[in-house]
Amino acid sequence: MESAPFPIDPSPPVHVAIIMDGNGRWARARGLPRALGHKSGAEAVRRTVEAAREMGVSYLTLYAFSAENWKRPPAEIAALMGLLRLYLRSEIANLSKNGIRLRVIGDRGRMGADIVALVDEVEAKTRNNGAMTLTLALSYGGRQEIAEAARAAARDVAAGRISADEVDETTLARYLATADMPDPDLVIRTSGEKRVSNFLLWQSAYAELLFVDVLWPDFGRDDFEAAVRAYHHRERRYGAAIG
Ligand code: FPP
Repeated sequence: MESAPFPIDPSPPVHVAIIMDGNGRWARARGLPRALGHKSGAEAVRRTVEAAREMGVSYLTLYAFSAENWKRPPAEIAALMGLLRLYLRSEIANLSKNGIRLRVIGDRGRMGADIVALVDEVEAKTRNNGAMTLTLALSYGGRQEIAEAARAAARDVAAGRISADEVDETTLARYLATADMPDPDLVIRTSGEKRVSNFLLWQSAYAELLFVDVLWPDFGRDDFEAAVRAYHHRERRYGAAIG
């Protein structure tokens, strides 16, 4: 990773999305249960949210629980849901104090009723905050999101609200959970794995992808700043010729 000095600005990426990976390996390396890796991962979430807001990032999207994570052992799912509950309850005041709006994308139908109620409450209480939007992808899958968008568009075609010919990229994007957000500029995955794992598949079409070796519980402000510096060294062409 580049070692040029901070500051990053004048223009931090507008939208940074992170695949938080490596909690299990972090715990295993210490002889700890996986749940403690996730607990340390939740601390890294707090640090990263603070760093992103202070650096002027407008949208931070975190992959907190994938649609595929439901296949994990029940005890691990319970531990992750417990941390999520704790995070939502304990952070609501902090998010509001820091002007952060919280949003959740993903399949609420599979989440517990209490989590859904908590999510609704935090979303409502932080709705008017304007410093940064923090989106948690929960029970989220990119393919599922695109399929859901296609179903919703098909229903509108069937009902005569739009014509089939209107279903182009712009129209379909309006049916996604992220309809009112800009696409991510930078997608970071921690832990050295080099996959996108069904995260923001549509939205990441032109994102810069950055794979860093650090395990998520060890991810800190320095790593976030280094990632943003690396992003600034990339030349984004959106398919255009080299200038
Ligand atoms: C990947 O680690 C991480 C997850 C499955 C979930 C991320 C969850 C958190 C960071 C904690 C809670 C989140 C919030 C928002 C409070 P892994 O278990 O796949 O790690 P491994 O690949 O090393 O096994």
